[in-house]
Amino acid sequence: MIFIPLQEGIYKMEYQHYYLVTGASSGIGFATALVLAQNKRNKVIAIARNATKLESLRQASENKIDIFPFDLEKGNLTTLVNDLKKMGVNHLTGVIHNAGYLVSKKFEEINTLDLQKIYEVNVFAPFRLTQHLLPLLKQAKGAHIVNISSVGGIQGSVKFDGLSAYSSSKGRCVY
Ligand SMILES: NC(=O)c1ccc[n+]([C@@H]2O[C@H](COP(=O)([O-])OP(=O)(O)OC[C@H]3O[C@@H](n4cnc5c(N)ncnc54)[C@H](OP(=O)(O)O)[C@@H]3O)[C@@H](O)[C@H]2O)c1
Repeated sequence: MIFIPLQEGIYKMEYQHYYLVTGASSGIGFATALVLAQNKRNKVIAIARNATKLESLRQASENKIDIFPFDLEKGNLTTLVNDLKKMGVNHLTGVIHNAGYLVSKKFEEINTLDLQKIYEVNVFAPFRLTQHLLPLLKQAKGAHIVNISSVGGIQGSVKFDGLSAYSSSKGRCVY
């Protein structure tokens, strides 16, 4: 949080950096959001579907993290961006596309629906979200977009039995 002088003795409080972390209700996203929120200059907005788990994150951060229950597959991104602005987010220093979906099945058992869902969450959702957040990202100096991929997305799925669809989607995150 920084204090911007408006007139003598009157200051406006503003965060220097806003970060948006997707898939923050558990695992890597949960931990990433907590670490970013430790810096007083940062305001973290955490996204996932499970509101109860997000509430645990908010409490773990001692109410420093703003939580936003949202389904990246089905949610309305225009509404999301408008709501972020209403929350006071006027720029974004970083978006961490961490939300991920994994199906563990033999290649011959993967069906079209599995493939569609994996690509919706792991590839198309980050793409669409980035497009909608671009105006806010452009307002920050040196904004970053971080895509959480996987070793399987780089080396292929030979070492990861049953993860061919997942690994192929993670290969698409490296752009
Ligand atoms: N753990 C590993 O060893 C590993 C290795 C390589 C890469 N990764 C990648 O790292 C990322 C995090 O992995 P993790 O192990 O921490 O996974 P995790 O604990 O299962 O977390 C996945 C997160 O994605 C969210 N999510 C899933 N679908 C969503 C949707 N439609 N809308 C919004 N949020 C959604 C889940 O929240 P809700 O269910 O509440 O929506 C959850 O918070 C993933 O992208 C994963 O592919 C993990």
